[in-house]
Amino acid sequence: MSTPLAQPPVDMLPSILVTYPPRIAEAMRREALAPASMTGRMSGYHMGWLDDSGRERKTVTGKLVRPSLCLWACEACGGDVNRALPAATAVEWVHNFTLVHDDIQDGDRSRHGRPTVWALWGVAQAINAGDALHALAFRVLSKSDADPQRSLCAVRALSTATLEVVEGQCLDLALEGRVHVTLRGYLRMVRAKTGALLGAALEMGALLSGAPEKTVRQFRRAGYLLGLAFQMRDDWLGTWGDSTLTGKSSAGDVGRRKASYPLVAAYHALPSDGQRRLRRAFAKRTDEATQEIRSLLLDAGGSELTHAAPLRFAEKAVSVIAACGVPKTFLESFSEIASYVARRAR
Ligand code: IPE
Ligand code: IPE
Ligand code: MG
Ligand code: MG
Repeated sequence: MSTPLAQPPVDMLPSILVTYPPRIAEAMRREALAPASMTGRMSGYHMGWLDDSGRERKTVTGKLVRPSLCLWACEACGGDVNRALPAATAVEWVHNFTLVHDDIQDGDRSRHGRPTVWALWGVAQAINAGDALHALAFRVLSKSDADPQRSLCAVRALSTATLEVVEGQCLDLALEGRVHVTLRGYLRMVRAKTGALLGAALEMGALLSGAPEKTVRQFRRAGYLLGLAFQMRDDWLGTWGDSTLTGKSSAGDVGRRKASYPLVAAYHALPSDGQRRLRRAFAKRTDEATQEIRSLLLDAGGSELTHAAPLRFAEKAVSVIAACGVPKTFLESFSEIASYVARRAR
């Protein structure tokens, strides 16, 4: 059974994304690679706290969803957030490593409303920047002063999730250009590329609080479900979102013929004639064909279907957390972020 989600205004940040980000950002700036190094320049630029010439800026570009969830999970299970801080920043470093590489893989020149690392420094150097962020994550995690057994489990959780993300990225690229993607194939890819890291964030938070194994497993499960909701919403934004809010181009997903939820849902909803038109348009790489795909997705109800699906997965995630018996205020804050993940505009 799923728990219906509250529907606060879409532009209202959930309390989890107000409470935890300041201390996460502060810790990450402390852990960051030296700005005098090339990897420090490129990664600091990507994170938003350096400009492209290496000068300081006062911003952090990401929403910090994963590390905030990690700290929330630790507190929800009765732990001290300081115990989970290295795991929280580690998951965010991994996330950013995947973003730097993802922009190369997707050919995207814009993220957070700024040129991507590869667009400025070239593909080869952006690979180096991503690699450095990956290594930094595990260096940070190894400095955790939590119980050594639990710290080791956290390293295993994050490295397993990272492997899964990479496999998910492989599946994403393999499905690119395919017009008929089954729901099962889509969910498999998204579970890996996005669910795994949200799963690890909640898993590590619970783990480092000292929660029992069964709770840790359920937290991971909730993270996977939230990850499905997160990516489905991302797919909606990637097709119909306002690029001034997302900071990414909304031409990208359809333009590259990505296997996104609007496509999966619309293909199944279209009559055979519509499917034939979609197949034909998919095979052509022209702007007219891209426009035709966008209209077919809309006509088939792809937008409405992609509004509804993430809400269902987010509700399931809330039910899983509810069954763990976390205190009421923590369940409410999780429900709030679940609703945000499924309905966000950026
Ligand atoms: C973007 O994730 C990549 C996906 C998994 C869809 P976020 O939207 O969490 O990225 P930032 O860090 O907040 O920019
Ligand atoms: C999300 O990739 C998953 C990872 C980055 C690992 P997408 O390609 O769907 O996300 P955006 O839209 O570029 O952020
Ligand atoms: Mg991408
Ligand atoms: Mg991608």
